[in-house]
Amino acid sequence: MSTVQLSQLLEKYHLLGHRLYGAEPVSQLEHALQCASLAVDAQESNEMVSACLFHDVGHLLRPDDLSSDAQHEISAANYLQKLFGHAVIQPIKLHVDAKRYLCTIDSNYWSTLSPGSKHSLQLQGGPFSEIECEEFFKQAFAAEAIRLRQYDDLAKIPQKKTLSVDDLMPMIESCLLG
Ligand SMILES: [Fe+2]
Repeated sequence: MSTVQLSQLLEKYHLLGHRLYGAEPVSQLEHALQCASLAVDAQESNEMVSACLFHDVGHLLRPDDLSSDAQHEISAANYLQKLFGHAVIQPIKLHVDAKRYLCTIDSNYWSTLSPGSKHSLQLQGGPFSEIECEEFFKQAFAAEAIRLRQYDDLAKIPQKKTLSVDDLMPMIESCLLG
């Protein structure tokens, strides 16, 4: 069952992955592959590599609804929970909150964001308060979400060489729910 659903997921990237990643100079698929390749380079777990590859699938589920950032992390988590367990789903679900967290705890972080990411931050509710930061960091997989966020922010380089979906497939398949 999971292999059928994985095929349907990959088909979304096949059909829509050429679309631009918001205002960034890379496509959705280039962004996903750069993010996952950075996780491989950092020797992250297969679950983290899978999370990095699919973290923005929410944008492909509702490709014409970009008006409110579409809460893409929630739609991604809901969609992917048929396929993967918490170690993949939670970092994805928390990757927007991780940006809001980092903006508050790291005074330099906001200035490193791309113009598109600064704009989406406002749509996403802006930086967390200190209390919200504490609540965020208590959650399971918050640290993984922060690392995913850091790869995410770096995965916007035009024409960067990356691993392919085929290269990543054994890592993805190892994480599929039975
Ligand atoms: Fe992203």
